[in-house]
Amino acid sequence: MTIANPVYSTKFCRYGAEALREAALLIRAGEPVAVPTETVYGLAADATDSHAVAAIYSAKGRPSFNPLIVHVADSDMARGLAVFSPVAETLAKRFWPGPLTLVLPVRADSGLSPLVTAGLPTVALRLPAHPAMRALIRESGRPLAAPSANRSGAISPTRAEHVLASLDGRVRMVLDEGPTSEGLESTIVAPEAGCIRLLRPGPVTAAMLEEATGMPVILGKGDVAIEAPGQLESHYAPSKPVRLNVMRAEADQYMIGFGLMPCHINLSPEADLREAGANLFAALHIADASAAARIAVAPIPTDGIGAAINDRLKRAAA
Ligand code: TXA
Ligand code: MG
Repeated sequence: MTIANPVYSTKFCRYGAEALREAALLIRAGEPVAVPTETVYGLAADATDSHAVAAIYSAKGRPSFNPLIVHVADSDMARGLAVFSPVAETLAKRFWPGPLTLVLPVRADSGLSPLVTAGLPTVALRLPAHPAMRALIRESGRPLAAPSANRSGAISPTRAEHVLASLDGRVRMVLDEGPTSEGLESTIVAPEAGCIRLLRPGPVTAAMLEEATGMPVILGKGDVAIEAPGQLESHYAPSKPVRLNVMRAEADQYMIGFGLMPCHINLSPEADLREAGANLFAALHIADASAAARIAVAPIPTDGIGAAINDRLKRAAA
């Protein structure tokens, strides 16, 4: 399929009642709109409209169709789209609204565009905590498919300015509601018989999932072989070479620190992993825009949310 790339004048709006109404009208007309969530800014479009979903891929310059996360405003909407096992119910009750995406069997009568699921028998569902995203779903009356609002393969946006830098002229509207609180994309899990499969580490950690369900958390894709961005080896990538686990930067490196240490920017001087996660992508954006030829990142512990931080860093450096 060939998709034209129309050039728009992108409207940058502070989130509020009027901006919300306008955004919902664009969604109903099949246009993608950039909107904040608690994780990263998403490029949202009507998940029931194949043209709207195709327009997301076109704006991002994503070369092929991969399954997208469908965002819902409440659990009733979620239950109309997918089949919830008892474990899925437990996870939804405990972590929704919030940064957890559940991969569940899609209902035959979901009404979702087949482009959203990329032909898989499952759909990835998330009930976000951010009021802007939920209000947009309610106001447009549609489940919204939304990947991160950046050009394919680039660093994820945690501020509206990051969206504009990446997608100016490629989307009609960006809703600005300041920096996102989590800063890392949602945790993605597939509840299976006897275990929880962790498809993408994120703000909801493996320990939290185990504690909530009493079930073991298994890493990796299992037999669902999908080649989706975000699970590709190189993703979230700055334009410059990135070196990890660096203790002391060389002269041509922009140093991203963690804990008290000499550096250009510090993810968390107090060595707080949650704070480091919230600051990670903004730091990569700044490092990428700096005069330095290369980027260096200090070692980040792998426990808790550190697993998600290291996952994103590994892909940024690949
Ligand atoms: O925090 C987030 O999740 C953000 C915000 C905007 O909500 N969204 C996001 O979407 O990160 P995206 O499109 O970048 O990530 C979609 C991921 C893909 O990497 C894919 O692996 C997974 O969701 N996915 C989607 N549908 C799936 C399915 N049916 N089975 C397995 N994985 C699926
Ligand atoms: Mg992304």
